[in-house]
Amino acid sequence: MKSVIIGAGTYGEVYLAYLQEAGVDVVGFLDDADGVQGTSVRGVPVLGKIDLLETLSATHGICAVYCPLGNNKLRVKFLERARALGYETPSYIHPSVVISPNVKVGQGVYILLGTTIMPYAEIRDYVMISMGVHLAHHTVLKEGTFLSTGVNFGASMVAEKFSYVGISATIMTGVKNLGEDCLVGAGAVVIKDVPANAVVAGVPAKILKFKQPPPRIGNELVFQNVSIRAGLERSAA
Ligand SMILES: CC(C)(COP(=O)(O)OP(=O)(O)OC[C@H]1O[C@@H](n2cnc3c(N)ncnc32)[C@H](O)[C@@H]1OP(=O)(O)O)[C@@H](O)C(=O)NCCC(=O)NCCS
Repeated sequence: MKSVIIGAGTYGEVYLAYLQEAGVDVVGFLDDADGVQGTSVRGVPVLGKIDLLETLSATHGICAVYCPLGNNKLRVKFLERARALGYETPSYIHPSVVISPNVKVGQGVYILLGTTIMPYAEIRDYVMISMGVHLAHHTVLKEGTFLSTGVNFGASMVAEKFSYVGISATIMTGVKNLGEDCLVGAGAVVIKDVPANAVVAGVPAKILKFKQPPPRIGNELVFQNVSIRAGLERSAA
C-alpha cells in the first residue's frame, strides 16, 4: 500500500526505516517547514507541504498516511485530516513489542521497540509510545497521548487526551488520572493525580506551572479533580 510520512525530520527518518523494514511502500514525505520540499530523506522525496494531502491519492495513488510527530495536537490534527480525506491511518507496532491480545489498540497508534503492555490496557487512536515503555493492566491512554522512552506507567489509570509523559518518568499505581494536555517532566515520579494543562516534574512530582490558567472560583483554582488555594500550585500534585 503506497504511503506517505508527515514530518521529514529525524523522527520521520527513523520511522521510514521501521516502516520499510515492515514492508510498507513509503513513496514520500510531506512537511510544512520552509526549504525541505524537493529534498529527499534516505532517497525518499519530500513531495511538498501537508496541504498536498488534498490531491495525493489522485496524483500518486497514495492510500495511507503515517504521522509520527511528537507534538500531540499536530499529530492528531494531521491524522484526523488525512482520515477525513479518505486515507487510511494504520498503526505501526514494532515486532519486538510484547503486547497481550487482550489489549485494545486504535488507529494511527505507533509503538516502538522493547515496549511491554499488559492485558486489558486500552490504547486509543493516535497514541505514540516510544522505546522501552512498561504499560500496566487496565490503563487507558486516550487519543493523542505520548509516552517517552523508558516510561513506567502503572495500572488502572486514565491518561486524558494529549497527555505527554517525559523520558523515564514513573506514574505510580494508585494515581487515577493524568489530566488533558498535561506534561510530566523527564524522570518525574507522579504519586497523585495531575490536573489538566499542568506541567509537573520532580520526585515526587510537583506542579511547575500551567500551560493555560485553570478556572478560578473566588480565591480557589479549580482543577479536574482537586481544588487548591491560589499560590499553592507547587504542592498540589
Ligand atoms: C518539565 C519540563 C517541561 C520543564 O521545562 P520548562 O518549562 O522549560 O522549565 P525550566 O527548564 O525553565 O525549569 C523550571 C524549573 O523546573 C526544574 N525542572 C525542569 N525540568 C525538570 C525535571 N524534569 N525534573 C525536575 N525538575 C525539573 C528546573 O530545574 C527549574 O527549577 P528552578 O526554578 O528551581 O531553577 C522539561 O524540563 C521536561 O522535563 N520536559 C520533558 C522532556 C522529555 O522528556 N522529552 C521526551 C524526549 S523523547
